[in-house]
Amino acid sequence: PLAGVLRPALLAAARSPKAERAITRVPATKSLVDRFVAGTSTPDAVAATRDVLSTGRFVTIDHLGEDVTDAQQATANVEHYLDLLDALSAISDAAAVTRPTEISLKLSALGQSLPRDGHKVALENARTLCTAAEAAGAWVTVDAEDHTTTDSTLSIVAELREDFPSLGTVLQAYLKRTEADCAELSWSRIRLCKGAYREPASVAHQGAAVDEAYVRCLRVLMNGTGYPMVATHDPAMIAAATRLALAAGRTTRDFEFQMLHGIRDAEQRTLVADNHRLRVYLPYGDQWYGYFMRRLAERPANLAFFLRAVAGS
Ligand code: FDA
Repeated sequence: PLAGVLRPALLAAARSPKAERAITRVPATKSLVDRFVAGTSTPDAVAATRDVLSTGRFVTIDHLGEDVTDAQQATANVEHYLDLLDALSAISDAAAVTRPTEISLKLSALGQSLPRDGHKVALENARTLCTAAEAAGAWVTVDAEDHTTTDSTLSIVAELREDFPSLGTVLQAYLKRTEADCAELSWSRIRLCKGAYREPASVAHQGAAVDEAYVRCLRVLMNGTGYPMVATHDPAMIAAATRLALAAGRTTRDFEFQMLHGIRDAEQRTLVADNHRLRVYLPYGDQWYGYFMRRLAERPANLAFFLRAVAGS
C-alpha cells in the first residue's frame, strides 16, 4: 500500500527539475547511485563491459540522458555514443563470436522531444549511430519511454529497419496497445519489459494485470520468428519465458534474458550456468537522475536504503 503512494510520487519526482536539484545535492545519494550506474566516462563503461563479458554474460550499454531540450545536447549525446562505439570495436570482436555487444538508445536523448522537428532530428541522429554501430560490429536497441512517444519511436524504428534490419526495440507490456505491437513486430528483435513510467489507466494496465499482459506478449513473441529479449528480474516472468520458449520449439540460443546492472547479480549468474543467454543493461554517464529515480520507484527496499542513507548524511 505504501508503495502504491510512493511509486507515483517518485515517478513524478523523476520528471521534476526541482526534485532533481534537491536529490542530487544529498551526499549519500552518490553511493546508492553507484550500485546502479557503471561510472561516468567511456573508459568506465568499457571496463565494466569487459567485466561482464568475462563472466559469460552479454552487455547492452546505455549512455544516460533523456528529454534533451536543445539540438546541441542531442549532438553531444551522439558524440558520447560515437566515442563509446569506437572504444567497443576493440573488444567486440571476441564477444561477437556468439552475440554482439549492444548499445541502447533513448530517442528523447537524441532530440525526439524538440518542439519543431524533434522526430526528424532523432531519426537522423539514430541513423548516424546505427551506421557507426554496424561498422563497429555492435547491435542497437531503441529503449521505450513514456506512452506519448511510442508512435514516434516505432515509426523511427520502422524507417531505420529498412537499412538496419537487426535494429531492436523495446515494447512495454503495461501498455494496452503492446499485444498488438508484439503481433506486428514478432519477426524482429524485441526487448519485452513491464514498463517503468507513470502511465494513466486509460492507456496502461495497472497492478497484477501487467504481469498477465507480460505473459500474453511473451507468448506472441516466442511464437514469432524474431529474437525475443526477456527483460525482467521477476522469477514468475522468467519461468513463463522458459516454458513458452520450450513450447514454441525454441532452444536457449533462440532468445535471451536481460537484467539491469546491479540487480539480482546472483540470479544473472545462475541463468548463465543453466545455459541461458543473459544480457546486462549497463548505464553510465552523469545524467543518472531519471534512471535512478525509476529504479527507486520499482523497489521499496531500494527506497528504504536510500532514506536511511539520507537520514544518516
Ligand atoms: P518487478 O519490479 O515487477 O519485480 C517483480 C519481482 O521480481 C519482485 O517481486 C521480486 O521477486 C523480483 N525482483 C525485482 N527486483 C529485484 C531485486 N532487486 N532483487 C531481488 N528480486 C527482485 N522500462 C521501460 O519503460 N523502457 C525501457 O526501455 C526499459 N528497458 C529495460 C531494459 C532491461 C534490460 C530491463 C531489465 C528493464 C528495462 N526497463 C525498461 C524497466 C522495466 O520496465 C521494469 O520497470 C523493471 O525491469 C522492473 O520490472 P521487473 O520485470 O524487473 O519486475
